[in-house]
Amino acid sequence: MSDKTMTRQVLLFISVLSLSSVHGQVSYSIPEEMAKGSLIGNMAQDLGLDIKRLKSGKARIYTGNSAEYIELNKERGVLLIRERIDREALCGQTTPCALHSQIILENPMELFQITIEITDINDNAPSFKKNEKRFEISETAVIGSKFVLEKAGDADIGLNGLQSYSLKPTDNFALKLENQVDGSKKVEMVLQKPLDREKQEQVSLVLTAIDGGEPRLSGTVQIHVIVLDANDNAPVFTQPVYKATITENSPKGTYLTKVSASDADTGSNGEVSYSISNNMDSVSDMFHIHANGEVILVGKVDFEKAKHYQIDIEAIDNGGLSDSSKVIVDVIDINDNAPVTSVLSKSSSIPEDSIQNTVVAMFSVHDPDSDINGQVHCGINENIPFTIKATSNGFYSLVTDSELDRERASEYNISVTCSDEGVPSLSSSVTLTLQISDVNDNAPVFERSSYEAYIIENNTPGLSIFTVKARDADWNQNARVSYILEDSSVNGVPVSSYVSISADSGVIQALRSFDYEQIKDFQFRVKAQDGGSPPLSSNVTVKIMIQDQNDNAPQVLYPVQTSSSLVAEMVPSRSRCGLSLGLQNGEIRTIRQVNDKDAVKQRLTVVVEDNGQPSRSATVNVNVAVADSFP
Ligand SMILES: *[C@@H]1O[C@H](CO)[C@@H](O)[C@H](O)[C@H]1NC(C)=O
Ligand SMILES: *[C@@H]1O[C@H](CO)[C@@H](O)[C@H](O)[C@H]1NC(C)=O
Repeated sequence: MSDKTMTRQVLLFISVLSLSSVHGQVSYSIPEEMAKGSLIGNMAQDLGLDIKRLKSGKARIYTGNSAEYIELNKERGVLLIRERIDREALCGQTTPCALHSQIILENPMELFQITIEITDINDNAPSFKKNEKRFEISETAVIGSKFVLEKAGDADIGLNGLQSYSLKPTDNFALKLENQVDGSKKVEMVLQKPLDREKQEQVSLVLTAIDGGEPRLSGTVQIHVIVLDANDNAPVFTQPVYKATITENSPKGTYLTKVSASDADTGSNGEVSYSISNNMDSVSDMFHIHANGEVILVGKVDFEKAKHYQIDIEAIDNGGLSDSSKVIVDVIDINDNAPVTSVLSKSSSIPEDSIQNTVVAMFSVHDPDSDINGQVHCGINENIPFTIKATSNGFYSLVTDSELDRERASEYNISVTCSDEGVPSLSSSVTLTLQISDVNDNAPVFERSSYEAYIIENNTPGLSIFTVKARDADWNQNARVSYILEDSSVNGVPVSSYVSISADSGVIQALRSFDYEQIKDFQFRVKAQDGGSPPLSSNVTVKIMIQDQNDNAPQVLYPVQTSSSLVAEMVPSRSRCGLSLGLQNGEIRTIRQVNDKDAVKQRLTVVVEDNGQPSRSATVNVNVAVADSFP
């Protein structure tokens, strides 16, 4: 009720008391809010007044200082609505509500009391001061928690006034009304079903206040409930297991996968941090998880050490609720290991007569890589009499595959190279040095198929005639040649009495002085024998030719020289030819005609010389007699 309204009521009251002579009174009851000009009542008729009297009496209506709600129509003698009447403005909650006015007439002066009761119509809906109300309620609020709501007001009275409230929807909250001493109601809402921020962050309700008018009017207030988060949700990983692959030897920082856990809560309750929870093994040194869930490599992955990893991962929110998951990491092999060759056993030497397939070495090959990266094949250098054979898984043997000959090759460097099938392929090799040991498989061989040697007669016994030489391709003892004179006889005499041979040097010596005039040549065999066991030998024929020496002077056969008698040759005196001597045939001829002056008897000394070195000679004296006739 405004102050202005109050003042007017008071004035009305005073005016009623102060007037003394009241000639009649009339009461009307009209609803509020009638339109301007609406008829209130036929005052003249009701008061028994003539229209003319109203005019002559200059009838006027007196309402004091209050607003002029009513007017008097003197022509018709009726009261009309001059201003719209609002009961609520006029009386507020006071009831009954009436307007008191007077009709004043002059000549004679008369006063009539008019009371107009203003009845309520339902022209006011219940209303709230604010049309919105906000609550912030934790999702953990317990059932039965109460929240005070605003009361509604309704200016109307009685049934037209506020009658009831309703709250909708009723999912979480129920309305509770409690009567107050002042007759009003305490309006509350009570939590009936827990809130869940994760399902519904805001609950909107409408509180409706309803009056009892016809029709009913209502007022509403929007109630906004903001559901405050509580850490009532643990993080949840999107997958129970994550899979990742990584190539071994990947650099640090290589990305593996990204894990993710969601937390239905908000704010810090929903902030998830990740950690690796393996603690017993090296996984936590190997991998790192970023705050955003990215898992990266920080260590070194070696397929040969570990083919799989399981990374246990924990997600925890700020309230300490957690979930776990794991990342299964498969390591992909790369060809980073060359085959490793281990010699299990090897011969450093084998005899040259070893049969084919003789095992020279055994070795194993291992490549820790997988699949083709670990598949290995081995080979050896070419053009050597060996081959490599795979025996069983990863084991190989090196065997001879053709005949050996120490005399051709006494040492082999055998390179065994093992390569894997990776791309690019890796390989390793090992070199074995194998000695071929000697076997006495070569007989001594003389430098010539036969020998001829010359010796000059009259040699001194013990003279070295010459040297035979045999070679043996074998080695050491097997190649040590001894020379042996084979038994034979020359003219019935053992050859060993003619010559001897040095077993070591092959030097042949004459054991006697030879006489060409007795023996011109002879032959024998020399055997060369090696020191092997059993020994091997060969033989050669040696022919010795004795060379003549000028060891005989010429002998004059004719004329026979005797010391006593001198031979005389007769030369006819007429011999024409000169006297000369045939140098070769020993004929003596004249070289000119014999004349008288020539001595009859001539003595010639003939020297006979050979051509030896030194030359040997003989002399003969020939007596020549010149005569005409022979005695
Ligand atoms: C084998 O290798 C060794 C060392 O490298 C070398 O001295 C020798 O001459 C080689 N032998 C052959 C037959 O190649
Ligand atoms: C000498 O060698 C020949 C073949 O060259 C052989 O037939 C002969 O038996 C050998 N003689 C001796 C006495 O060893």
